[in-house]
Amino acid sequence: MAEALPALTLELEIPIPRTPEESDSMNEAAQKFSGTTVLVTGASKGIGGACARLFAHHGATVWMTDIDDAAGMELSSALGPNTYFRHLDVTAESEWNALLLEINESGQQIDVLVNSAGAAVKAPLLETSLEQFRSMLELNLVGTFLGTKSVAGQMRGGGSIINLASLRGVLATAELGAYGASKFGVRALTKVAALELADRGIRVNAVCPGSIDTQITASPDFADDDVEAYIQTIPMQRRGTPEEVAKVILFLAGEDSGYITGTDILVDGGTGAGARTPKKTTQKV
Ligand SMILES: NC(=O)c1ccc[n+]([C@@H]2O[C@H](COP(=O)([O-])OP(=O)(O)OC[C@H]3O[C@@H](n4cnc5c(N)ncnc54)[C@H](O)[C@@H]3O)[C@@H](O)[C@H]2O)c1
Repeated sequence: MAEALPALTLELEIPIPRTPEESDSMNEAAQKFSGTTVLVTGASKGIGGACARLFAHHGATVWMTDIDDAAGMELSSALGPNTYFRHLDVTAESEWNALLLEINESGQQIDVLVNSAGAAVKAPLLETSLEQFRSMLELNLVGTFLGTKSVAGQMRGGGSIINLASLRGVLATAELGAYGASKFGVRALTKVAALELADRGIRVNAVCPGSIDTQITASPDFADDDVEAYIQTIPMQRRGTPEEVAKVILFLAGEDSGYITGTDILVDGGTGAGARTPKKTTQKV
């Protein structure tokens, strides 16, 4: 059975200031990205949606993009006047060009790009059609390439690019051949871009989520999985939330990660750390 779609909520722990000085420093932290322009792809929901919320909360101007216009418009209007939604199919170079022209003409320049648009197909290789294989590469890998190329070309004062790879682009996973190939590719692209763009002050990193509660993991493609048994294989014994991934992306976007480029950060509850020894399931009587 497919899991129910999780509600897109942002669980931020917002502490209460005890003194005026504490209040000032907390306001400063909340506005950490004020004056920063962020473009997020796949921002209508899931991890991209959580990024749009978190960056907006921290004072950034956010350009949300997606092919799901209804959900994107709804979220962007909820996030306030410094958040814009535009339709963008990441696989269409002409749409990237049109959007960047618009942003440029509005006098803004992108400082942070989050390439989050993506999807997963789960099928054994022998049951994967050529069309499915190509469409995975086109969306997950070519889309990330086009975003990186289009936006990096316009980042004049440096910037930060964060790509959504996957734990499945670190550990080969049966039945995720097309998806895994696209995500191993995203990691390669990330590292090459980091090498080539470092002298322009542009950092490029990848985040590799394990299993996160979003539309992807709830999709019919994963419906036959024994979800409970799968969750037992995660050391932290639970799926992650989109907000937990967004917080790592926020770290990679800002100056706190100023000396980090070309790396992958796993956000996977420990799954990628190694194997755990199975325990006996027979009960003592
Ligand atoms: N959810 C997970 O467990 C998980 C794990 C590892 C990596 N990831 C990666 O994280 C990224 C975000 O995934 P998610 O879980 O938030 O998925 P999601 O399905 O919740 O969101 C993906 C968004 O991408 C959009 N999209 C699809 N095709 C597009 C296109 N051609 N152009 C623009 N937008 C398009 C969708 O409309 C959707 O809003 C993906 O790249 C995914 O591969 C997710």
